[in-house]
Amino acid sequence: MSFDLDARIRKVPDFPKPGILFYDITSILMDPEAFSYCIERMVERYKDRPVNAVAAVESRGFLFAAPFAHRMGLPLVLVRKKGKLPGKTRARRFQLEYGEDVIEVHEADVHEGQRILLVDDLVATGGTLKAAAELLTECGAEVEEIFCVIGLPFLKFREYLAGIPVTTLIDYEHE
Ligand code: PRP
Ligand code: MG
Repeated sequence: MSFDLDARIRKVPDFPKPGILFYDITSILMDPEAFSYCIERMVERYKDRPVNAVAAVESRGFLFAAPFAHRMGLPLVLVRKKGKLPGKTRARRFQLEYGEDVIEVHEADVHEGQRILLVDDLVATGGTLKAAAELLTECGAEVEEIFCVIGLPFLKFREYLAGIPVTTLIDYEHE
């Protein structure tokens, strides 16, 4: 039976600035059937794959990664914005559309032998996920695949993330 995920994603024009159509996942979180659908699709796709850890990008990525990791009995590595993690961290700086940002992981949480599923809610340019993937790789882990609920392929994330398979549940072709 097909499920209309598109109908469960609220689209907000002109947010956060004029001309941008914002794909809002709060409407999925408010809809237990839609939220379950997303997690079940993740389980279906990855249950027989050689993934032994999950990593999630702050903050909206946490929302999908945590129920999945719990369901699969896998450890969950948090990739956080700078200054939020209390332990020894490794950091990576990356470019945003305007300005730059820094993400961090606990060094002790990432190591050789990990085959990580890297999760976020949405991939646009791929800048955030590329920085996260590089950070995890630098720490010795392998990023097996990236999973996002929503993809915006017109922003060319597949080219930017070349070499890492990216799975999305739904793609939108226009801003
Ligand atoms: C949004 C979204 C992704 C990222 C995608 O997060 O949740 O993490 O941007 O953009 P990119 O592919 O161009 O890098 P945002 O930085 O707005 O923060 P949030 O998740 O904390 O809301
Ligand atoms: Mg985000």
